[in-house]
Amino acid sequence: MHLLGLFLLFLAIVHGVNSWWQISRKHENMTNSIALPNLSAKKYCKQFISYKKRQKLCFEKHDLLIPIALGANNAIDICQTRMKNRRWNCSTLNDVDGPLFHDSVVGRSTRELAFLHSIFSASAMLQIAVSCSKGDLKSCSCKSNPATKDQKVSTCPQDVSFARKFILKFANAEFLKLKREFKHKKAEANKTIHEGLVNIANSETGAATVTKHQKHQCKCQGVSGSCATKTCWLVPASLKNISLSLFQSYISAVNVKVKPEDWKLKNSDSNLLDPTESQLVFLDPSINYCLKEEDWHGVSGRQCDPNADSSLSTGSCSYICCDQHPTVEEKIITEKCNCSFIWCCHINCNTCSETREFGYCR
Ligand SMILES: *[C@@H]1O[C@H](CO)[C@@H](O)[C@H](O)[C@H]1NC(C)=O
Ligand SMILES: *[C@@H]1O[C@H](CO)[C@@H](O)[C@H](O)[C@H]1NC(C)=O
Ligand SMILES: *[C@@H]1O[C@H](CO)[C@@H](O)[C@H](O)[C@H]1NC(C)=O
Ligand SMILES: *[C@@H]1O[C@H](CO)[C@@H](O)[C@H](O)[C@H]1NC(C)=O
Ligand SMILES: *[C@@H]1O[C@H](CO)[C@@H](O)[C@H](O)[C@H]1NC(C)=O
Ligand SMILES: *[C@@H]1O[C@H](CO)[C@@H](O)[C@H](O)[C@H]1NC(C)=O
Repeated sequence: MHLLGLFLLFLAIVHGVNSWWQISRKHENMTNSIALPNLSAKKYCKQFISYKKRQKLCFEKHDLLIPIALGANNAIDICQTRMKNRRWNCSTLNDVDGPLFHDSVVGRSTRELAFLHSIFSASAMLQIAVSCSKGDLKSCSCKSNPATKDQKVSTCPQDVSFARKFILKFANAEFLKLKREFKHKKAEANKTIHEGLVNIANSETGAATVTKHQKHQCKCQGVSGSCATKTCWLVPASLKNISLSLFQSYISAVNVKVKPEDWKLKNSDSNLLDPTESQLVFLDPSINYCLKEEDWHGVSGRQCDPNADSSLSTGSCSYICCDQHPTVEEKIITEKCNCSFIWCCHINCNTCSETREFGYCR
């Protein structure tokens, strides 16, 4: 039994099928079957066979699974937008029962895995906070706060911190337990634990970015326009903004190692500064995305811009195709153009055709 458990844990880590972001695969079914959210959420929780701690959280607060699934879906979209012009384009695999990402990308502790942990945590946290502030969910901490009853927008800052706490616990359930056990000197670090500590740090960076990017929003009250009293509250930034910040952290991610004495993350180059809360961290180098490796297809077939200046844009063919000459095709593109707004409420457009060049890596 114990051996079987280890084997399953090993499988889960290698193939990533137990990554919590797999939930985005179930999103469609969960939101489509509004009548059965409980059933499908609970069924989903059962999948965390080797992650008992996460499974427990899942059963306890299964109403949060819908915002988590929505958040995970948004995370994929925004990741693909951010990475569109990079050699790793955040592409997902098509098999609904299989892992979401290529094992050669996420099967080790890479910079890309770091970005994924941060963006998925940030996006799910944001979605939980938003659902909470709408009063949609039972599990939220702010539900019983009478101050929010008569307001259209929640003034509950607790929603954001509740969302943060929950997603960090949910995403890293098993490793947080090991981290606690370490304090009682019960666990000895191995590669799996090192990876777990790095995942925790990256989820925290994602969550901290959401918290940090909140903005004040104010509403005036009083006789029309007088603004006798002004109520202000914090609202989270858009996922787009948060992703721009995390993208910068991805570019400047820090290669770390784990100190055996205290399990803290240190810069792997002892001459350089240790990572801060806003930095993403990784243990292993990425594969060369230019080349075919394991389940990675290389850059062959990638679309690129043959006219972009490679010193200015990562979308250029010379960057994406790794300095190999692309195939260039001319295509006639027909689109709406020259649109004008006719008061009120029509938009008139012409149809324009132009010939454009498209590059494809060989
Ligand atoms: C949704 O459910 C159907 C059957 O209930 C299943 O065949 C399908 O694969 C599910 N889709 C996803 C994305 O899980
Ligand atoms: C979900 O389960 C709760 C109790 O766990 C129940 O009160 C609620 O009505 C259920 N919702 C639906 C849509 O079945
Ligand atoms: C990423 O690139 C591959 C080709 O290498 C392509 O098939 C896939 O659609 C791209 N994914 C996204 C999200 O752009
Ligand atoms: C690493 O150590 C933890 C805690 O001692 C243990 O649960 C886990 O199975 C180990 N993993 C490997 C791959 O040895
Ligand atoms: C998002 O970023 C833009 C540009 O940096 C900024 O102008 C805007 O205020 C930000 N929005 C939020 C909600 O933070
Ligand atoms: C754009 O609209 C203006 C006014 O309707 C017209 O004169 C002009 O030719 C149009 N340009 C194109 C490219 O269709």
